[in-house]
Amino acid sequence: QRFVKSLSVALCLTAAAVSSSMAQAATFRVAVGDGAGSAQHELGLKFAEVFKEKTGGKHDTQLFLNGQLGDEQATVNDASMGLLDFSILAINNVTPFSPSVGVLTLPYMMQSVDDAVMLTQGEVGQQLVENTIRDAGVRIVGWTYTGFRVLTNSKHPVQSLEDLQDLKIRVPQNEIMIDTYRAWGINPTPMAWSETFTGLQLGVVDGQDNPYLTVSSMKFDEVQKYITDIRYLFSIEPLIVSESVFQSQPADVQQAILDAGKAATEHSAKWLVEQEDKIKAELVSKGMEITQPANGEKEWMDKAISQVWPKYYDQLGGKDELNKILKSLGRDEI
Ligand code: MLT
Repeated sequence: QRFVKSLSVALCLTAAAVSSSMAQAATFRVAVGDGAGSAQHELGLKFAEVFKEKTGGKHDTQLFLNGQLGDEQATVNDASMGLLDFSILAINNVTPFSPSVGVLTLPYMMQSVDDAVMLTQGEVGQQLVENTIRDAGVRIVGWTYTGFRVLTNSKHPVQSLEDLQDLKIRVPQNEIMIDTYRAWGINPTPMAWSETFTGLQLGVVDGQDNPYLTVSSMKFDEVQKYITDIRYLFSIEPLIVSESVFQSQPADVQQAILDAGKAATEHSAKWLVEQEDKIKAELVSKGMEITQPANGEKEWMDKAISQVWPKYYDQLGGKDELNKILKSLGRDEI
């Protein structure tokens, strides 16, 4: 126990030393989980441009694409310890560190980009920013709106839940998403994002889900053939900054970070609308086949809502809290 204690003291000292040196640094490091052309990349580019402009060129950022600075979940740990400045990653990879964020991965909670914008930029989003600072030591300063996560696989078209049963599907290490696939009748395979392309390529798993923009930027069309156009989860990807790095900056730099995050968020919503149809058509031209789920996705939705939601009422602040959110989105209460 004494060893663990001294180790954590040593780590804290290291983090403090690193973060105080970062306070002077003119170039901040930004980890990006996805590749070039992704919504994450676009958010990072806009953030970098505006941040530089707001600091009068004094400060800069460097983007490291394709998980070069570590798997998405690892970057939350690193940022929390002050060892990394910024990270852009999918919200599902933040949830394990701050459970209330799970409201953004609850199946069928968000039904449009407008719902996603409303949730992240309204009262709920503000509360989630505070919760992640408290729980995970990172501050959300921007959001991407990346589109609905569609299901891809290498074996055959999937229209109904019955079609899903013989497939091995990769999911992030996210309890709500694991439970969603269980409600759909299969046991999914949790796998880190950084291992997913290889997992698909080697046939360790047959399929996965992610938005069109991500499927394209990660070149999944090279290892996947069939897409099912489900709409169970609207993908949101935050830009987080290490809270200790943020706090070690002077007020004007903190303000530049917040302003650049806001500008990049506004840009992301517009960019999605411009890009998604084009990217979808490109994937088809590269040989992918798109299938619509049977009966307007009714069986997928009924099973996920009835079996997954009740399990998470407590973690997400209670049923009344969820009803408040549903009401704010103009939806029926549960
Ligand atoms: C995941 O499936 O782990 C994430 O959505 C990956 C991503 O960042 O796009």
